Amino acid sequence: MTQSELEYSLSTAVVVPVTSIPDKKAALEVAKALADGGIHVIEITLRTDAALSAIEAVANGVARGEVQTAVGAGSVSTVEQIASIRESGATFAVTPGFSENVSRAMIEAEIPHIPGIATVGEAMRGMALGLNCFKVFPAGVLGGPAFLKAISAPLPGIRFVPTGGISQANVQEYLALDSVLACGGSWITPSKLMKSGDYSKITELARNAREVGSA
Ligand code: 3PG
Repeated sequence: MTQSELEYSLSTAVVVPVTSIPDKKAALEVAKALADGGIHVIEITLRTDAALSAIEAVANGVARGEVQTAVGAGSVSTVEQIASIRESGATFAVTPGFSENVSRAMIEAEIPHIPGIATVGEAMRGMALGLNCFKVFPAGVLGGPAFLKAISAPLPGIRFVPTGGISQANVQEYLALDSVLACGGSWITPSKLMKSGDYSKITELARNAREVGSA
């Protein structure tokens, strides 16, 4: 997957489910549930012990043709993590904040990624590396849609994936902005549903999110 293919996938997904998979067995089921609801992308955060094997399980499912999805690693914060996410079969990565070292290493490793930013200056440092799409985190705390509107004014052509504090109740306010490529969030894959294996509810949450996105 190339950087522009990643950005295209995110824009068609509209919503990027940020998941903290409790155990690797759930991973493929969650990815399938999301795809059934029309979301063909999943970000699996490196916050649980199962994360890398979960990414691998989804990547293997994709290779076997069991699900069609782009599987990425989230919460990537060090250069050292890049080798293991590549080995796990992740096709993209997301970082919570901006690190020039990490972004340079991603570009070198040819892993498309969406770096996190929280300021215009960080966006500018990313732009200097040739990047033009950024996660804005934590979007709600930073000021929500009003913050995005303000920072996009001096950065024409830059696209954002706001994440943090977004839910079904406010996602439309973000998606209404031209600068927003997609919204990230954990509300579509609540831990409770992943743990209980209530995958049809995840499909429903995905479908609801897609509906708002295409309204
Ligand atoms: C992330 O890592 O992107 C966030 O933890 C997701 O934020 P949310 O749980 O508020 O959606």
